[in-house]
Amino acid sequence: MSKRVSKAKAIMIVGAQWGDEGKGKIIDYLAPTVDYVVRFQGGNNAGHTVVVDGVVHKLHLLPSGVLYPKKRIIMGNGMVIDPEVLLAELDNFETKGQKLNLLISERAHVIFPFHILMDGMIDEYKGTLGAGTTRRGIGPAYADKAERSGIRVVDLLNKAIFKEKFDQLFELKKNTLQKLYRQRITLNKTAIFNAYVRYGQRLKPYVGDVSLEVNQALKTGKRILFEGAQGTLLDNDHGAYPHTTSSNTIAGAVCTGVGIGPTKIDEIIGVVKAYLSRVGSGPVPTEAKGALGDYLRERGQEYGTTTGRPRRCGWVDLVQLRYAARINGLTSMAITKIDILGGLKKIPVAVKYKYKSSYITELPADLEVTRHCKPVYRELPGWKNLTDDDFATILKHGYKALPSKMKDYMKFIADQVDTPISLVSVGAERKSTIQVP
Ligand code: IMP
Repeated sequence: MSKRVSKAKAIMIVGAQWGDEGKGKIIDYLAPTVDYVVRFQGGNNAGHTVVVDGVVHKLHLLPSGVLYPKKRIIMGNGMVIDPEVLLAELDNFETKGQKLNLLISERAHVIFPFHILMDGMIDEYKGTLGAGTTRRGIGPAYADKAERSGIRVVDLLNKAIFKEKFDQLFELKKNTLQKLYRQRITLNKTAIFNAYVRYGQRLKPYVGDVSLEVNQALKTGKRILFEGAQGTLLDNDHGAYPHTTSSNTIAGAVCTGVGIGPTKIDEIIGVVKAYLSRVGSGPVPTEAKGALGDYLRERGQEYGTTTGRPRRCGWVDLVQLRYAARINGLTSMAITKIDILGGLKKIPVAVKYKYKSSYITELPADLEVTRHCKPVYRELPGWKNLTDDDFATILKHGYKALPSKMKDYMKFIADQVDTPISLVSVGAERKSTIQVP
């Protein structure tokens, strides 16, 4: 079932579930072996947590490679960027006066305060059809992009063009908010414009042509890690629509989100949490309600990195994972947080769904089916809670020192998904990631 992460030049990390699978940690683990870490979609709806020597780093916009100051980190055109949030993150990392080795795509779209306002209103209006968004303005910014009224990073650098576009967009949003949503608008047009001109000037040294640089890097044999945000089930085409995010989160999105051809990617690692968590609304077939769900949440500290919301927890869903392997073309999986399951006597894993009188093995598109299907579980034997000594042995001897039932659990998942496992994470720390031989 194993497959070591190879020496491939272009490796992509994607979430195979609902986001929060631990991608940041896997990226941080692999980052020393690459020259570039590149994000290609989403914005500050993402929250990546990386723990280094007991210090917790929470990232929302900057690629996870930022914790290695010499790495080139890149934000692709497929992202939506709130410049105020980005500048705060930059200030956080540039305390010692050293500039980050960062490139921001001139073509990435910009989030404005009216996007944030609209995000909450639209999601609330939708009620049970809402996604329970992070309220960061992600959806409305992508909507403007699709409608071709969006403002890009490059526009902030050209005051005349910015003014032309901003005047139109602001009036459109003001009217929509006032007339459609009946909101009294207190947004100050001039203040926002001036602030964004300033943001643009501060970001200017980092702005450039991402596609050009990434393609040149690949041509000259550099190693690149592409960092996905959110997860497969949140993909706006292939996920649990309409309870999705507004971008494509799957591996294919890297082509449009950076500007590289599909032939350039060598390896695609799907990050899979050893159980399941979901933050936001909509049906989650394998959600464990009640005491077991609470147990997983507390043990796994499943609270949103971005919003602090409690995550809904449950069990691995093989219908979703098989789908994720197919949609992303996974070459291997990285299993995270498997230590959290220690001490459970039995671990349920959903192998298929039952809907009315039939069984379903492929992810349904019909919301009616998703709402009412029931998971069919197979119960696998658990293993004991690992002690500090056990962890020390595991970190010293690697994969072979893992409890045999834990290895059986992973083998079952790998066999069912027909995809090998390359990495296993048994703790929050950077060093607690082990390669599968
Ligand atoms: P949005 O991306 O803020 O529009 O939120 C849409 C849906 O995606 C909501 O259900 C969010 O909770 C979820 N979501 C967005 N980003 C993340 C993430 O990074 N991790 C987990 N869930 C996310």
